[in-house]
Amino acid sequence: MKHRVLVARKIFDDAINLLARYFDVDSNQKDAPVSPIQLVRKLQGKAGVITLITELIDERLLAQCPELKIVCNVAVGYNNIDVKACTRRGIMVTNTPGVLDDTTADLTWALLITVARRVVEADKFFRTGKWKGWGLMQFLGHDVHHKTLGVVGFGRIGKGVAKRAMGFDMRVIYTDIQRADEATEREYGVMYVDKRTLLRESDFVSLLVPLFPETTHYISHAEFALMKKTAILINTSRGPVVDEKALVKALKDGRIAGAGLDVYEKEPKCERPLLGMRNTVLLPHIASGSVETRTKMAMMAAQNCIAGLSGQRPPNTVNPEVLTRY
Ligand code: GLV
Repeated sequence: MKHRVLVARKIFDDAINLLARYFDVDSNQKDAPVSPIQLVRKLQGKAGVITLITELIDERLLAQCPELKIVCNVAVGYNNIDVKACTRRGIMVTNTPGVLDDTTADLTWALLITVARRVVEADKFFRTGKWKGWGLMQFLGHDVHHKTLGVVGFGRIGKGVAKRAMGFDMRVIYTDIQRADEATEREYGVMYVDKRTLLRESDFVSLLVPLFPETTHYISHAEFALMKKTAILINTSRGPVVDEKALVKALKDGRIAGAGLDVYEKEPKCERPLLGMRNTVLLPHIASGSVETRTKMAMMAAQNCIAGLSGQRPPNTVNPEVLTRY
């Protein structure tokens, strides 16, 4: 008998069709988050589930879904899933690393330049008919080239962001829990520094760390106090990496010059004052959002599910310790 698999939220038809070759698929074609109650209901009798980052997979849910064997997240981050609870129950968890690195690095750069050069503000000015002609002093932003970029988290995406900085003749410093080897540092033209040095010296601070208890509120009041008054903070990692209330205060007090955010502490909301600030650019969590990349992510999640439920090793298992039990 075919396993039953739930696709919790709308994904591409190609991925659903692929899953349907192997499984009896129950696919929710609504593009809105599923409530926890609905999710539990839909998961009854399902061996696998394809989740987005909006679906919370926690102990409470798992306790009510005894037949679940695999959770396949369509994202590289998996902070929506209690991996330890899944592991305790022998449930495989997979993610989609690698395919979204360049796309996320591109968007990080888009945000960085947009904030530095006031692109959104200027666009709005033009569209609303306010531009009456060229002026030397209009919409003066700040240069990106030849400045210092601080990359926090030198993983695949961090490296992509650093690589792009070469074209802008920037000095790139980075910090991470682990220092890269010399050859890698040379290849990307980066210098390892501690967190304090990075915050003190960077004109742009780009956050690219996963969300763990250790990275929650990685940037808060004490960190803003160390940053340059002219610095711009870019967050394309996870919202809770930044203490959003502290960010509001830092921007209001002129402690830093601006912020470009793609992620928020309590998505889909953000601290209200951010909305009214002209030195913030706020995006709705779209860093990996290109057709090409999101398609790859969905296909990858489907392939992980197929492997896991066919007794093979899913290519992207977050908790490989579970596999020894199969
Ligand atoms: C998106 O935020 C992801 O983690 O892939």
